[in-house]
Amino acid sequence: MKTEDAVLSEHDNGISFSAHTVNQNQIWKGSLDSVAFKPADIKDKLLNLDKPCYIVRAAGKIGVTNVGYLSQSDNNYTAPVQLVTAVPPISTQNFGDPTFLSFHGVKYAYATGAMAGGIASEEMVIALGKEKILSSFGAGGLSLDRLEAAIYRIQAALNSQPYAVNLIHSPNDQAIESRAVNLYLKHGVRTVEASAFLDLTANIVYYRAVGLGLNAANQIEIKNKVIAKVSRREVASKFLEPAPQKILTELVEQRLISELQATLAAKVPMADDITVEADSGGHTDNRPLVCLLPSIIALRDEIQAKYRYSTPIRVGVAGGIATPQSALAAFMMGAAYVMTGSINQSCIEAGSCQHTKQLLAQVEMADVMMAPAADMFEMGVKLQVLKRGTMFPMRAQKLYEIYRTYDSIESIPTQEKEKLEKQIFRKTLNQVWEETAAYLSQKNPEKLAKAINNPKIKMAAIFRWYLGLSSRWASSGEKGREVDYQIWCGPAMGSFNDWVRGSYLSAPNQRQVVDVANQIMQGSAFLYRMQSLKIQGLQIQDDYCQYYPLRSTLLGVK
Ligand SMILES: Cc1cc2nc3c(=O)[nH]c(=O)nc-3n(C[C@H](O)[C@H](O)[C@H](O)COP(=O)(O)O)c2cc1C
Repeated sequence: MKTEDAVLSEHDNGISFSAHTVNQNQIWKGSLDSVAFKPADIKDKLLNLDKPCYIVRAAGKIGVTNVGYLSQSDNNYTAPVQLVTAVPPISTQNFGDPTFLSFHGVKYAYATGAMAGGIASEEMVIALGKEKILSSFGAGGLSLDRLEAAIYRIQAALNSQPYAVNLIHSPNDQAIESRAVNLYLKHGVRTVEASAFLDLTANIVYYRAVGLGLNAANQIEIKNKVIAKVSRREVASKFLEPAPQKILTELVEQRLISELQATLAAKVPMADDITVEADSGGHTDNRPLVCLLPSIIALRDEIQAKYRYSTPIRVGVAGGIATPQSALAAFMMGAAYVMTGSINQSCIEAGSCQHTKQLLAQVEMADVMMAPAADMFEMGVKLQVLKRGTMFPMRAQKLYEIYRTYDSIESIPTQEKEKLEKQIFRKTLNQVWEETAAYLSQKNPEKLAKAINNPKIKMAAIFRWYLGLSSRWASSGEKGREVDYQIWCGPAMGSFNDWVRGSYLSAPNQRQVVDVANQIMQGSAFLYRMQSLKIQGLQIQDDYCQYYPLRSTLLGVK
């Protein structure tokens, strides 16, 4: 039923408006020739994001133009063209927190997260950094030499352009974390993405505090930036607060930081940015973004009220960001920046193999599941992986069930053991143990001793052979092991594939990280414009509001 206020004008080009939409105080002045009335032309005008959009009505038709100007309405003057409504230009730079842009020297509030084992590769970090987009190198699981080579390469290519390197907490071996920190300090890595921390360690506090100083104006200068990835309030609060006094005192005693740095560290938060990670690929608590983000923003506000930091900590989001819609929703909820992960693994620059990228390009939303994680296997910790095109999640789950049921390799029934050897390991469990023992004798003799003395630990070490290698096979493209590829992936991948279906981006060999980032941010800007028009009362047919990836930079957006 049409109310008094309802549709005043309805046209075959799919746009209509209500009486209350019409701007009574202003008129549009300009050439009627510039006004588009046909749907395809209208869409082009709407997509012209760096220009304003005037929605006008002339000779009973609704049209759209990007030119002309607004002027105060003069009651004695009847304009030939009636102004319905107008929206200003919009830039991708308008989204998120402007201090994220200036602090990190980036062009917009979009970043890509680390992907372990160099899946977030040097190529990825360099390609994004050159376009002033922040991206984190996937340092997790790499040897120190490999990591150092990556830092050399990234620094040589990027100069002063933005990049970060992942500092992943390793609960079982603090030395891994401390060696990484020393390497980052040695090479002047100025931004780390700290992840998987359950509590602060001396290593991350050292990295932060040793970069503090006073500038000429006696203000605190933060040289070592920390972006902390969290999915729980209790962990977030550790990074939102200043470093614990106890750790700072120990660092001073060890002469790793100065007294001044300890004093300054008590005045600044541990992190500059907190990435709230919702349901994502890899390790995840599977929390919904819409619940998690407001909760962490509220926590940030509470802590900010207590400490009154000169620059409040920014709260960004990761987990499920894959489309213009999801990015825009996050920004509208107050995210300081958005971070993508899963979708970048399907891009050309990712350090994963072609077969993995092909599988990822076919993923649908429900093609992912939680499976046992290699690093915390015994504790039953799971991570989110691809289930379509690989048997890994089912096989890893089987290993976990056997681990839970039996106390030693010897107590597994023969038939069950033979099945494992034939289907999963493709060698005898004895052979796997020999390989594992040889590896541990080099890397972790202490652990080897424990495994020799405890059959349950030995069983976990044997099963971890499969859990550890399967993710490497997925990156290196191990032939004949495709059904065992362990591919970390979240529902974001399916969401992305749905969005780009039918466009050039449906093929993985067309997916470039910079282009994907631009498309998502430009798409967000476009969708914002369309929502603004709708909120003002314009009724617009759905196909005007859809944003498909456009091959070239057709959009007039910076
Ligand atoms: C293949 C893969 C590997 C990942 N490895 C790491 C890692 O080593 N360190 C880390 O902080 N986050 C890691 N992540 C998480 C991403 O950095 C990012 O936070 C997450 O993927 C965002 O959620 P999304 O997958 O829904 O886009 C990984 C994600 C994927 C998909």
